Amino acid sequence: MNPNEVRAFMVIRLKKRVFVTRKIPNDGLNIINQEFNAFVWPDEFPPSKEEIVQNAVDCEGLVTLLSDPIGAEVIEQLPNLKVIVQYAVGYDNIDVKFATKKGIIVTNTPGVLTETTADLTWALIMATSRRINEADRYVREGHWKVAWSPELLLGSDVYGATLGIIGMGRIGRAVAKRAQGFNMKILYTSRSINERDTELRQQFGADHVDLVTLLRKSDIVTLHIPLTSDTRHLIGKAELAMMKQGSILINTSRGQVIDEDALYQALMIKHLAAAGLDVFTEEPISLDSPLLQLENVVLAPHIGSASTYTRSTMAKMCAENLRAALAGAKPPNIVNPEVL
Ligand code: DGY
Repeated sequence: MNPNEVRAFMVIRLKKRVFVTRKIPNDGLNIINQEFNAFVWPDEFPPSKEEIVQNAVDCEGLVTLLSDPIGAEVIEQLPNLKVIVQYAVGYDNIDVKFATKKGIIVTNTPGVLTETTADLTWALIMATSRRINEADRYVREGHWKVAWSPELLLGSDVYGATLGIIGMGRIGRAVAKRAQGFNMKILYTSRSINERDTELRQQFGADHVDLVTLLRKSDIVTLHIPLTSDTRHLIGKAELAMMKQGSILINTSRGQVIDEDALYQALMIKHLAAAGLDVFTEEPISLDSPLLQLENVVLAPHIGSASTYTRSTMAKMCAENLRAALAGAKPPNIVNPEVL
């Protein structure tokens, strides 16, 4: 090695080691690569738990995706780890309690993806209500033989309908805002006793109700809650039965908040008119899933936050969170501030 090469080698050795479990957009990745001695998992498929441990064993930083299982058994094997930087707002794949116990900071990317996810929610509301995907297939498959038919592909009106929002956090409110243009009546549930009830009533005419009332009265129900032990299968057979005949269910949060088998039954017997799903119990959904056989389901591959701007901004936020945590400062988007 010549002196320049030795110097470059030493600089890399001095930089803190970071494992990035997938290639994230360059706006963030370039910063990470510049400031840290980073190894980026080259494959599109996620590393296994063993591969995460192998690659992160001497790292101080770990940048993760929601499909990386970062449980206690993984964290336990990473003795140098100081921060887990999640490239998502949801972090149900990480055992935050255990990380906190180990003194490890966890960060996420809240806020930036709110509007993008609300847009996708609305795309699913419109597509299911007006049967857009069925219409598209109808035309492509050559079924359109009669110029205009009075009862072809009848859907339901969004304008003036009642929208039930389960979870009135950032994304729930962004969905409610869009519903104003459709003159919708809004009902919502919220985990906390909402100090914003008055504001939400004034702003959107929205009423805070219990889950049963919401399910019984809404024409369209949309889920905007994190996955926790309390919300797993929040919508099961009994809850689906409470929903109005011919109503629509939308999910852009996490698949496990719905009992998918029960949902399949409710859709098959047409108790629900349709469902719009961006998230599933198992991702990717198996091609054998009966949901794929149903005409009245619109499916998307977990793309709620998938706009170029949002995904790039999420990557930049990850770089900032990583930089702050490894410099001993409080990261802007810390999930477990009690660790400090
Ligand atoms: C999240 O951020 O939790 C979404 O599911 C993916 O962006």
